[in-house]
Amino acid sequence: MIILGIETSCDETSAAVLEKKENTLVLKAQNTATSLALHSTTGGIIPENAAREQMKYILPVIQKTLEHAQTTIQEIDAIAVTYGPGLIGSLLVGVETAKTIAMTMNKPIIPINHMVGHIYANFITEQEQQKNIVFPALALVVSGGHTDLLLMEKHGDFTLLGGTRDDAAGEAFDKIGRLLGFPYPAGPIIEEKAKKGNPKRFLFPRPLIGSGDYDFSFSGLKTAVLREVMKIKNLDEATTNDICAGVQHAITDVVVKKTLKAAKEYTVKSLLLSGGVAANQTLTERFQTECQEIGLPFFAPSRKLCTDNGAMIAAAAAFNDNPLPWNEITANPELYFD
Ligand code: KG4
Ligand code: ZN
Repeated sequence: MIILGIETSCDETSAAVLEKKENTLVLKAQNTATSLALHSTTGGIIPENAAREQMKYILPVIQKTLEHAQTTIQEIDAIAVTYGPGLIGSLLVGVETAKTIAMTMNKPIIPINHMVGHIYANFITEQEQQKNIVFPALALVVSGGHTDLLLMEKHGDFTLLGGTRDDAAGEAFDKIGRLLGFPYPAGPIIEEKAKKGNPKRFLFPRPLIGSGDYDFSFSGLKTAVLREVMKIKNLDEATTNDICAGVQHAITDVVVKKTLKAAKEYTVKSLLLSGGVAANQTLTERFQTECQEIGLPFFAPSRKLCTDNGAMIAAAAAFNDNPLPWNEITANPELYFD
């Protein structure tokens, strides 16, 4: 089965061709156009600007991806597209393009929840490595909009154990970065600066770390950093690096501790990390070490499959082959887990 995956829920315009052979998912080609340079000048994403850029990118990105995969739209078995959650204008670009291709080329169309897509990035076979993901699995999605912990009992079967009450982990990185003067997205910049910093100089709060539930909250962390920054007269490079290291340490502590608690409570057999923040090496290394100690197989996608991409959408469709008639598919910005 060959699937064309389309992802346009936020600022990326991404398409991928993925082939499912038995239980392996081979990525044939992927192209992602980004409007990040535009957003870095405005301190965040302006939805109207993002959608206008995506209108320009979507068809060339799909065309280039088909070419790189040495295939044609006729040879594609199904089209997978993100239909929510996300920005309405951005979602519409991908959804309406996918519907048009599906209608004109008579192809099945499989609508995919963006968050489910992130989790399925873990199922893509990379470097010819067989993935041995065993259910029940625990999935932690840490992205710009979500910090969600889900129990995955089998393909397509998710139970939300907890989620973000306010700012998501990625949003916390971005907002804290903004107050330190970094462009959007600040997560990768904070990670770089944290490498040179002392994570113990600033002891920032670990919100909800000991709460009995699996919810997350990072807006208090942002306020604590703001208070600290306002006290500092000379925000030199060393101090900035120490703040970055402290912030990264606080976020890592909370997500690792709560996730491993859930892993034990639900006696899961695999742990799947995903979402843009999963590109953070300190976080993945910490999970790796702690999972090894308790003998829990840990999976995280390669960096290029952590942030928004078409391959993860195609991967979700490969294991959840539930096509709908094109005229029953509508973009849903508020979509969550059913
Ligand atoms: O999953 P994603 O591409 O988009 C959403 O669905 O939200 O995630 C984007 C988020 C941004 O908040 C960005 O700052 C964060 O992922 N991010 C990182 C890193 N790379 C991206 N956060 C921390 N460390 C990183 N290396
Ligand atoms: Zn995402």
